[in-house]
Amino acid sequence: MDASGIPAGAGYLRRSVQVATDGDHVDLRFSLWSLRIPSDYIQLDSTLAAFFRREVPVSAVRDSRVRSRNLLSLLEAQGCIASEPFYTSSLREVGKLFHAVAAEWYQDYYSHRLWPMFRETTVSRAQLDAWMLRTYFLSRSAGVTAARCAALCSVPRIRALFAKNSLEEFDHCERYYKPKDGSIDAPAPISSLAFDQQMLRLAEEDWLAHVFVALFQEKTAVFVRNARSLYDRLAERFSLGNAFDLWKEHLGFDIAHGHADDFMEAFADDAQIECERFLASVESARVTIAYLIGGLEQIVLADVGAAAEFAPTGGTRTLSEAYDHFCRRTQPLPQVARQCYTFGPRLQALTFRALSYCTAHRDILVLGRLCEYASHALRTSATTGLVSAAQIAVENQLRESSYRPGEFVLALRALDYMLGSELLNESIRHELDRWLSESLERSPVSWESACEQVKASLIQGPALWDHPIPRDPFGW
Ligand SMILES: [Fe+2]
Repeated sequence: MDASGIPAGAGYLRRSVQVATDGDHVDLRFSLWSLRIPSDYIQLDSTLAAFFRREVPVSAVRDSRVRSRNLLSLLEAQGCIASEPFYTSSLREVGKLFHAVAAEWYQDYYSHRLWPMFRETTVSRAQLDAWMLRTYFLSRSAGVTAARCAALCSVPRIRALFAKNSLEEFDHCERYYKPKDGSIDAPAPISSLAFDQQMLRLAEEDWLAHVFVALFQEKTAVFVRNARSLYDRLAERFSLGNAFDLWKEHLGFDIAHGHADDFMEAFADDAQIECERFLASVESARVTIAYLIGGLEQIVLADVGAAAEFAPTGGTRTLSEAYDHFCRRTQPLPQVARQCYTFGPRLQALTFRALSYCTAHRDILVLGRLCEYASHALRTSATTGLVSAAQIAVENQLRESSYRPGEFVLALRALDYMLGSELLNESIRHELDRWLSESLERSPVSWESACEQVKASLIQGPALWDHPIPRDPFGW
């Protein structure tokens, strides 16, 4: 038994199941549902009562009443019974366990303060617009992130699964969610960007986590009735006519094409998964869900004039000019905020990744110098196992800009600047700056937006994403 007084162990009621006695009834709450049982009924069998008091595991319940057996089967099927941690487990078993973990995440997602505002239609027009734009961006990235898995996942059958998904999803942003005012060139909200880039990383490095998140998203189709009535109420409240008809059509599409079933197929295999790998995948997926929940918070904040998204200026200039322009409008993080980050030891892999995409002579030299610096100076700094969701978001931004040396160096310089020039040393900073001053912006979209994204993650990220509730995936 631990400090909370709740026995921890396989077969006991999962720790996240709440049991509350209310007069003549016992209320069970888990995920998004609750169940009321008469106290008398439970007390008639002492072993059943002991189970709900978490004094015995389910195997010790001797109650043979049919309704009790059905109740226990229901709890089992809903993932309410804690599992035995494994050394290795088949993917099939991992899939079952994930069902219980996802149920807890739905609770986190749907307990956000935005949802009652939607239900009671007290959202403002600005919040509604932010929600519609976020939905568009979620749809826009679905085919793209699936494509990364289809191209780079190391497991052939998972590649095939995501190839099918990407082909089904890539044009849904056009068919169902394109904003009427054509604002498809607006920058994505920082939480959407963080979500997309994390999914891209998972596609390459952790397909199990990618499947967890994809399944979490697709299984929301079970809330289809609630979603339809929500769309109707919002359309009526804001006199939007049939604005949500295409959204409703899309709900039907996902269900008709069995997207959730497709992802469940990923678990239909006897391959063995080690516990450590499973726990790491659950943690990576949990951070990804934190970005989704942060997206809900950004919608709420849309009403109070949240930081205006950065509008790129364009025009031809050197990257130094873009960087200087960024610095003139930006303060480095205060000392106390900088201490939360431990980028140093984690930069080596990112710099090698950037070097691996270089083709020009001078790019190779400067990125090579950066690799030297990250391999020697930064590798020796203290490492820590704890990395915040905001730091992961910035690492992913660097990762996704590694294909374009200019954007990568600019984003890294912005990060160093935000961290009070504590990341790089004088010599490498000088080298990067000379390279920036010789490089021209060639993109129609200003590369300064790379700096702005780093800044937004560091400043807004901690409030949006860094308050998740870690739980033991086994339910202990
Ligand atoms: Fe879709």
